[in-house]
Amino acid sequence: MQILGIDIGGTGIKGGVVDTDTGQLLTERVKVLTPVPSTPKSVAKVVNDIAAKFDFKGPIGLGFPAIIRKGIVCSASNIDHSWIGTNSETLFTEETGQPCFVANDADVAGFAEMAYGEVPSSEGVVLFLTIGTGIGSALFIDGKLVPNSEMGHLYWTNGEIAEKYISNKVRKAEGMSWELFGKRLNRYLLHIEKLFSPELIIIGGGISKDFGEFKSQLTLPVKVIPAILQNSAGVIGAAMYARSRMDS
Ligand code: BGC
Repeated sequence: MQILGIDIGGTGIKGGVVDTDTGQLLTERVKVLTPVPSTPKSVAKVVNDIAAKFDFKGPIGLGFPAIIRKGIVCSASNIDHSWIGTNSETLFTEETGQPCFVANDADVAGFAEMAYGEVPSSEGVVLFLTIGTGIGSALFIDGKLVPNSEMGHLYWTNGEIAEKYISNKVRKAEGMSWELFGKRLNRYLLHIEKLFSPELIIIGGGISKDFGEFKSQLTLPVKVIPAILQNSAGVIGAAMYARSRMDS
């Protein structure tokens, strides 16, 4: 089935049509900057513009950078605060005139990576982290997702949430060397490892293509691998999520 996948991020909104039987992108992936301010109205307009660009009629899956419970946005760290309490599914469905299904962006990207990435085994606890504008997380137990895990919001020792200390956005803003970034990431991952004892940690998001730059700083007792779907995971996973909702 062909489904339009849209990955809404704090910095960019990406979209592409996905064949949900194979997990392949059938079109180019378009990217539009996230509007500022990123209000429900302005983001919904971008979503509609992307659907119009592909002249797409049919189900749309969307990954959204916040806690999503039954379509309702319950947090707003890298998106305008006016989203809190908004029923995102109703909003996007009304704006596009197509059935829209929304889940957390990291959860859907993790979903795609588990299905189409090079994950050696999905047994036990597997943790997928997207490191981009913020830190997103998807926690899997024997391949089953525990939604909205929000591990970027653990408090760091300086009283900030972890994503204010270790995201790709912070790395760029502070002009951090890869060595320093790797050391900070290592400290963060060692803490997460203690809390969840995962069998495997997968690093996704904008940083995954640079894994070779910082992997020598990682001293974890568990395997840490880069995601291979890179920036397509969010779009593919969003479409897969819509498909799973339609099938259920
Ligand atoms: C949000 C998460 C999201 C992550 C990545 C965090 O700030 O709280 O819900 O998954 O950013 O976009």
